[in-house]
Amino acid sequence: MPLVKTADLVTPGRGIAAFNVITVEHAEAIVAGAEEAGAPVICQISENAVKFHHGRLGPIAAATAAVAAASSAQVALHLDHVTDLALLHRAADHGFGSVMYDGSHHDYAENVTRTAAAVAWAHSRGLWLEAELGEVGGKDGAHAPGVRTDPGEAVSFVAATGVDALAVAVGSSHAMTERTAALDHPLIRALRVALPVPLVLHGSSGVPDHELREAVRDGMVKINIGTALNVAFTGVVRQAVNDHVDPRRYLAPARDAMSGVVAHLLRVIAG
Ligand code: G3H
Ligand code: ZN
Repeated sequence: MPLVKTADLVTPGRGIAAFNVITVEHAEAIVAGAEEAGAPVICQISENAVKFHHGRLGPIAAATAAVAAASSAQVALHLDHVTDLALLHRAADHGFGSVMYDGSHHDYAENVTRTAAAVAWAHSRGLWLEAELGEVGGKDGAHAPGVRTDPGEAVSFVAATGVDALAVAVGSSHAMTERTAALDHPLIRALRVALPVPLVLHGSSGVPDHELREAVRDGMVKINIGTALNVAFTGVVRQAVNDHVDPRRYLAPARDAMSGVVAHLLRVIAG
């Protein structure tokens, strides 16, 4: 079916998973996993993925939208971790229903100013905008181990910027290949009570199933997952690549491994 709007899938009280698309195989795996689990899903393309595609947003966005259109699953398209305003401004022309503007590496005042401008632009184009509240000193922005979002500051940030959703630092960390993160559940509950917008968990690949379930129960809504797909993909390629020349011989099982991860995590998060 045609792409649906992110805003229609991000509903308080219900978990929705957002998976990172790097190649067309990722898009195919995400959509196949969503069909298998019978759940809606968000396909997200990051600024880094666009850089990988030689800075061209159009081809990978069009491929992802076409994969979604050929599927029975409800799929939304999200542009993730955008720091470059020129890229942000291209989102509306490529089918995206939402964008994450990432000003988390700026200090609070600068993040507010830049995010408010991004929100004004996004809303003028009918786009839903997610932002992130960073904290000085975090090597990985708001998602370094030990970094936490302050609820009072988050309330002020949301009021000052008008964002539609907020990525918060509650104990996860980007690019973990082991699922050993322990989330700060009292903080998640405090943020849910304090904030009028859906909460977003980044770096969810490192979060075990039981922690993800509890996070959704506590009020996390959008759950971002990238590395877990690449762990599955690369694990299969490592095993199979020496035996084949035709990339289809190792990409097909690698894609299947990713779709299995997607279906499993959708049952955990949206089940
Ligand atoms: O925005 C994307 C996510 O935060 C992905 O993080 O690769 O650690 O799962 P991850
Ligand atoms: Zn992230």
